[in-house]
Amino acid sequence: MVVVMSPDATDEDIAQVVERVESVGGEAFVSKGLERAIVGLIGDIESFHHLNLRALRGVAAVHRISDPYKLVSRQHHPQRSTVWVGPQGHQVPIGPDTFTFIAGPCAVESPEQTVDAARMAASAGATLLRGGAYKPRTSPYAFQGLGIEGLRILASVRETTGLPVVTEVVDARDVETVAEHADMLQIGTRNMANFGLLQEVGRAGKPVLLKRGMSSTVEEWLMAAEYIAQRGNLDIVLCERGIRTFEPSTRNTLDISAVPVVQALSHLPIIIDPSHAAGRKDLVVPLTRAAVAVGADGVIVDVHPSPESALCDGPQALLGGDLRDLAQVVRQLPPVVGRTDA
Ligand code: E4P
Ligand code: PEP
Repeated sequence: MVVVMSPDATDEDIAQVVERVESVGGEAFVSKGLERAIVGLIGDIESFHHLNLRALRGVAAVHRISDPYKLVSRQHHPQRSTVWVGPQGHQVPIGPDTFTFIAGPCAVESPEQTVDAARMAASAGATLLRGGAYKPRTSPYAFQGLGIEGLRILASVRETTGLPVVTEVVDARDVETVAEHADMLQIGTRNMANFGLLQEVGRAGKPVLLKRGMSSTVEEWLMAAEYIAQRGNLDIVLCERGIRTFEPSTRNTLDISAVPVVQALSHLPIIIDPSHAAGRKDLVVPLTRAAVAVGADGVIVDVHPSPESALCDGPQALLGGDLRDLAQVVRQLPPVVGRTDA
C-alpha cells in the first residue's frame, strides 16, 4: 500500500501518517521527490484500512499496489515524473516533457581533457555533463579513475561551463564525498544489484541515475530503484544501456523495448545510453535516433577530444562531425516522429 501526500503536505502531516501506521505494527518508508512525498507501507493491509489514512490532513490518495515495487510503480502515480538536476536556479529537467541530452567523457583524465569534452558537449547542446571519476573496470590493471581528484575537476568544470554534473559512485563509502561534488549520482550496470550502495545513495539527497544491470530483467531493475526510493529518494532516472546477449557485433544489445515497457510500469523517467550499448561510435547516432523515436526521455553519450588516446572506452566516444550529427538528431527528429515534448 502507498500513501501519496499532497504537494503542500507538511512534515507534521507525514509524521502523522507514519505514527498511525506504526500504531498497528506496520512499517512506513517516506520517500520524497522534488514534487511530492510518498509513504510506502509494509504490514497487514487490512489493519491499514481501519486507519482511515485518506482522511488525514495532507493525504492526497491511498493506493493498494499489486506490483512488487510500490514507490516507483505507476499504479499510484499515473502521470510520469520529472526529475530536476542541478543547483537551485540552474536545474535541468529529465522527464516526459522534454528530451534531455547528457554528454561528457567516459572517464575524467585531466582538467584539460575534461573541460575540452565539456565544451564539446555544451556546443552540441548537452545540458548535463557526465564524467567518471571512479571507474568500474573489468581488469584491476585498467585505469580506475582519478577518484577525489576527478570529482574536483568535475566541480571546477561545472563552474567553468555551468553544466550540472552526473558521475558514478562505485563504493558506498564514497557516497557522501561524491554527493558533495556532483549534482546526480550514477549507479553503474555492475552495481545495479549492490543493495547496500542503493540504500546509501537513497539517503544521499541527490538525484540518482540508475543504469540497468547488463543481465537484469526490467522487474529486477525496478526493484533496484525501489531500494533507492524506500530510503527516501524518489528522484530516480532509469538508464537503458544495453543488455548482455549472444550477439557479438555490438558491446551489448540495446533493449529498445525497455523504454515503453518501463514507461507503462513506472512513473520514473528513462533515458538511453547508446555509447555503452554499442561500444562503437558509428552506432551512437543511429541508436540515438531510435531513442528519440521510441519515446525515451533523453540520451547520455560519451565524448572525448581525442578518443584514440582515451583511458576508457575510446572506441565509443564521439567528437567533431559525429557529435554534430547527434546534435542534429536531438534537435530535429522529435517533431518528425510526432513528439511534441522535445
Ligand atoms: C564504463 O565506462 C565502464 O567503466 C567501462 O565500460 C568498463 O570497461 P571495461 O569492461 O573494458 O573495463
Ligand atoms: C559509465 O557510464 O561510465 C559506465 C560505467 O557505464 P555502465 O555502468 O553502463 O557500463
